[in-house]
Amino acid sequence: MLLSYLRERLRLTGTKYGCGGGGCGACTVMVSRYQPGTKTILHYSANACLLPVCQLQGAAVTTVEGIGNTKTRVHPVQERIAKAHGSQCGFCTPGMVMSMYTLLRNKPQPNMEDITVALGGNLCRCTGYRPIVDGCKTFSPMCFVGTHDIDCVFQEPPPQLFDQEDLLPLDPTQDLIFPPELILMAEMEPQVSQLFRGERMVWVSPVSLEELIQLKTSHPQAPLVMGNTNIGPDIKFKGAWHPIIISPTRVQELFEVTKTPQGVCFGAGCSLSVVKALLEGLVQEIPEEKTEIYRSLLQQLGNLGGQQIRNVASELSVVTIFIHFIYSAREILLNKDFFVGFGKTSLKPDEIVLSVFIPVSRQGEFMRAFRQAPRKENALATVTTGMRVMFIEGSSVVKELSIYYGGVGPCTVSATKTCAAVIGRKWDEQTLSDAYTQLLDEISLSPSHPGGQVEFRRSLTLSLLFKFNLQMLHKGNGSSRTISCLQHLKNLRHYTGTFRKAVVKGQSGDDPVGRPIMHRSAISQATGEAVYCDDIPKMDGELHLVLVTSTRPHAKILDIDISEALRVPGVVDVITSKDIPGKKFRTFTGIDEDILAQNEVSCVGHMVCAVVADNRKQAKRGAALVKIAYEDQPGPVFTVEEAIEKQSFFLPQRMIERGNVDEAFDKVDHIYEGEIRLGGQEHFYMETQSMVVVPSGEERELKVYISCQHPTYAQESIAETLGIPSNRVSCHVKRVGGAFGGKVTKTSIIACITSVAAWKTGRAVRCVLERGEDMLITGARHPVLGKHKVGFMNDGRIIAADLHYYANSGNTADESLLVIEKILLHLDNAYKVPNLRGRSVACKTNLPSNTAFRGFGVPQSMLVTENMINDVAMKLGCNAEEVRGQINMYKEVSLTHYKFEFDPKNLLRCWDECKEKSDYGSRRKSVAQFNQQNRWKKRGMATIPIKYGIAFSDGFLNQVSVAFALQAASLVHIYKDGSVLVSHGGTEMGQGIHTKMQQVASRELHIPASLIHITETNTSAVPNTCPSAASFGTDANGMAVKDACEILYQRLEPVRKQNPEGTWQTWVTSAFIQRISLSATGYYRGHDLYMDWEKQEGQPYAYFTYGACCSEVEVDCLTGDYRTVRTDIVMDIGRSINPSVDIGQIEGAFIQGLGLYTMEELKFSPSGVLYTRGPSQYKIPAVCDIPLQFNVYLLSGSDNPHAIYSSKGIGEPVLFLGSSVFFAIKDAVAAARVEAGMVGPFTLNSPATPERTCLACNTPFTQKIPASKQGSFQPWALSIP
Ligand SMILES: Cc1cc2nc3c(=O)[nH]c(=O)nc-3n(C[C@H](O)[C@H](O)[C@H](O)COP(=O)(O)OP(=O)(O)OC[C@H]3O[C@@H](n4cnc5c(N)ncnc54)[C@H](O)[C@@H]3O)c2cc1C
Ligand code: FES
Ligand code: FES
Repeated sequence: MLLSYLRERLRLTGTKYGCGGGGCGACTVMVSRYQPGTKTILHYSANACLLPVCQLQGAAVTTVEGIGNTKTRVHPVQERIAKAHGSQCGFCTPGMVMSMYTLLRNKPQPNMEDITVALGGNLCRCTGYRPIVDGCKTFSPMCFVGTHDIDCVFQEPPPQLFDQEDLLPLDPTQDLIFPPELILMAEMEPQVSQLFRGERMVWVSPVSLEELIQLKTSHPQAPLVMGNTNIGPDIKFKGAWHPIIISPTRVQELFEVTKTPQGVCFGAGCSLSVVKALLEGLVQEIPEEKTEIYRSLLQQLGNLGGQQIRNVASELSVVTIFIHFIYSAREILLNKDFFVGFGKTSLKPDEIVLSVFIPVSRQGEFMRAFRQAPRKENALATVTTGMRVMFIEGSSVVKELSIYYGGVGPCTVSATKTCAAVIGRKWDEQTLSDAYTQLLDEISLSPSHPGGQVEFRRSLTLSLLFKFNLQMLHKGNGSSRTISCLQHLKNLRHYTGTFRKAVVKGQSGDDPVGRPIMHRSAISQATGEAVYCDDIPKMDGELHLVLVTSTRPHAKILDIDISEALRVPGVVDVITSKDIPGKKFRTFTGIDEDILAQNEVSCVGHMVCAVVADNRKQAKRGAALVKIAYEDQPGPVFTVEEAIEKQSFFLPQRMIERGNVDEAFDKVDHIYEGEIRLGGQEHFYMETQSMVVVPSGEERELKVYISCQHPTYAQESIAETLGIPSNRVSCHVKRVGGAFGGKVTKTSIIACITSVAAWKTGRAVRCVLERGEDMLITGARHPVLGKHKVGFMNDGRIIAADLHYYANSGNTADESLLVIEKILLHLDNAYKVPNLRGRSVACKTNLPSNTAFRGFGVPQSMLVTENMINDVAMKLGCNAEEVRGQINMYKEVSLTHYKFEFDPKNLLRCWDECKEKSDYGSRRKSVAQFNQQNRWKKRGMATIPIKYGIAFSDGFLNQVSVAFALQAASLVHIYKDGSVLVSHGGTEMGQGIHTKMQQVASRELHIPASLIHITETNTSAVPNTCPSAASFGTDANGMAVKDACEILYQRLEPVRKQNPEGTWQTWVTSAFIQRISLSATGYYRGHDLYMDWEKQEGQPYAYFTYGACCSEVEVDCLTGDYRTVRTDIVMDIGRSINPSVDIGQIEGAFIQGLGLYTMEELKFSPSGVLYTRGPSQYKIPAVCDIPLQFNVYLLSGSDNPHAIYSSKGIGEPVLFLGSSVFFAIKDAVAAARVEAGMVGPFTLNSPATPERTCLACNTPFTQKIPASKQGSFQPWALSIP
């Protein structure tokens, strides 16, 4: 594929690997082709991971390196995304740049819709997209910040985080030209067929139809690869193998387009983008009544895949209904007989589709298409449908009716019987009601249907028919209570800018602290020059390591046969536990975890051994041939219920109590018991786990280049595993392409395995996990079952609460015991419940071990608490915000349930300011009014507070390893030329710590930030570091950098006094001559924090970060689809060191939280196999998920004596505020349930996916679906936790 060709052969590493399957956009490049027919050049974005190099004959490929760099000239797209703070970890940035660059090549002045469509196929896990869109928006003449226009409406010109006057202009004349030699080649050189012969595969590219037909006749089983978006993933992920591949992309006949009055005929090779553009043109050109089919197709095409996929994918597999295929010898109706099975059609193996004819719609024909998917864009549909009706002229009697569904069977299904039952009848309520009954009978799915969501899918078949009916009755017009469900939420796309308060007052203009300084590597990240672990050039003799993992959930290992693997050419060795020279396990919280399984495996994905080979392909081939003999153990445990039943726990369990809960329950007006389940969350850092271990060959030294959050822990782990002292291992972290807690423990274990391989072979070994491996092996956020019993008074006062948390830890303890402690420490959130008890337990199951994830249990803990508050409000029939803010929130200086005194003043300020800024009161009324006026769409609102403890107690983390004791160090050198080099213990993962450290050093040394360079994190320079975690990196390392700089500044005092008029440069020179040391270490001794679980008291945190967030959503009750209409966040982060970095953290964490609570779902098979192993199956928020209005406010006038420059940690807290969207959805669902006569508390589990939301709405359609009897079938997926 082009991606490996670029990265490995050409060493163009700006194009990144994120998933390898077309789903993330990290590998986006621009492909340009000259079209001799029109003498034009076509530019389109494409995913290099799916682009076969053989297909690129005559094409020019532009990568991020080609458009600009820091040595010559940065391209305006690169500059603007960087300056708008759209690059945090930067791993997605080159892909974003290339998508936007391609758009500008085609349309230099795009509008908002163009921009969001162009970025729709690119994922970012850090930023929350808003700043990326902001940067791109500057190219749109309609979208300048501060202007009022239909696309971007600002209520007032907001203070800006970047200066728009200071941007390079876009000058298309400066863009690369299409290589003239390629034009000459296309014009002059005769096209000849090509044949590429690989090791195991032959690729043939014919140029004439005749040749193509001959090839297909002689090789009927050979696939025709067009966009490779189907075949490519099949080969990569499903192990499909084709000895011959035919690529007809140069057969002109397959790309011809003919328009006739009867319709349009597309060559079968036309890409979806070409089809879309042509249909859009036709819809404008021809009378509306003839465009029913075209408009329906456009509706579908817009949401299929991302732009990169649509640019290359041929239309064949998606044009499903009412269209004629024209094959040279026969014409096939694309009807119910065309699809015959999963991925199978009635085409004969040697047949070739030449073109697809899409007719204009006939007089009186009415057609619509609907699609419901887990994410609004770039997601395979759960159910898709096309419906068409024609009436006998002048009557409402149905003459023709076709209804097709996708997603309810192995292939497209025709509701033939339902159609037959309706044809000839009047289209009225009774007919429709009979049609629903018939549909239920006809489209019945087995409860074990692959893909699950059976009840949801079935209800969609009905509710989409209902939508069709509404469309037809109203033809999109009208204002009745029912019609609003036909409007597409996504069409409401308006982004407003974030409002930011200026934070800097009366401070020297040279002092960068408090200013929105751009991430110091943002430009290098945007140009692709930033080096990530896998961008490090291959070393001499380097090997690649691939892990072999268990296929059984719980089994004894009887034998590992590596003989066949060793026979694969290029395979050098297979590493098993026996090869580990030192400690064969890691110990977390007193519990051992094997580095490689020794005798037993306890989950699918458990690491058993590793194959090292000359390259990754060979290592993979070898890994597939390792044969492990197992003896299955009975009764694996997957869910928390099973764990509870079998008492399968990691000990100790934890309990904490304030007051006397049992007694208090006797004195309350009401008692209510409820529960909520919260699914896990995959970190989905864009850069997968990566490392290169290089033995120096001398004195047992190893250099480890690693993408991790805790290099010291990796260093110690490797040393212990190899049985050597730590001083022989140096770990180097230049930058991390996202981590979110997932690059601490598991990374170190994988680094141990890689080091053993390097140790044994004496050669450098690289291990870079593929996305699927990473998702399988490295674990996720702990899924939690939370139960509450709450006692409260008629006025809403909560007097007693008893909460139980069951965390699904997976097969090893990892950090689970710390997670369940943090769960209990945060269970009060912002509320003073006088009698409060919490119990938490880490359930040991046979799923991959879960680990730290941004928030470390807090997002789970507080969801249970807030759900409890919601239940109280619903039980009393009052507003949840009242129960939260007015009635139960901490009001004065108080003790937490662990007896830690704090002042909630800023919590209350955030709460009040949030309600004011969001205009909560009047919008609440509007929401109520909206809900009265709309039957099938409901709006909901929720305001959620947060009180989040920052830092960690020594006792708390000492349980993991002494290396966690809270402290930090730095090393600062001043060189003779005046330049300054800063090293510190924090790792740069996108959170901007290096930028902040540069600001700190600049302030302390009184020199411009440009004189300061921050070097990689390196255990040889700064030893014994803490993890960059717990939102404490800046607090700790900032103090250490400050300390070192203060020391140096004081040392320079004599020379400053000697020459007060001197400059920094002259002082440094004088100091050197006077033999004053220009190098200093800085140290920070962390707070004395502790938690005593026996006494149930302590001071486990240095301080609290507070905030509040109000979100409003609109829910389509018929499909469960939702859109965040508006979000307002007010955060108390003290005095921000860098508002742009902090706002980036706030927005990114919020969107990650939105993903956790509303869309991200890990799915496991009944035997514990993770299904969701890539972006195709696991949906994280995309650009389409940003709230339509998104405002972030930093609380003014807040000080924090406990952290550097009065700032506060912000990395983690806001993630929980994503739950405001969850509770807003729940609020909307409650309004929908009122229509069904249902009031009072109800259970909505997290994430509130369209499936859960729709079923909870209890519409007449969901009510018609009979629930399958539990226990009578095996569901497709486990219900986790
Ligand atoms: C990230 C991603 C997202 C996606 N999202 C969606 C989605 O939302 N909805 C959806 O439906 N699909 C989706 N897909 C699947 C895929 O994009 C579509 O199925 C696409 O239309 C396949 O086209 P292609 O040209 O890339 O197929 P290829 O991989 O090139 O394969 C084409 C197949 O069609 C056959 N074929 C091609 N041309 C002819 C011909 N002329 N005559 C006979 N047979 C022919 C080939 O033999 C081969 O089997 C997605 C794929 C990816 C990777
Ligand atoms: S790496 Fe190509 S799309 Fe993800
Ligand atoms: S900046 Fe987008 S993934 Fe990190």
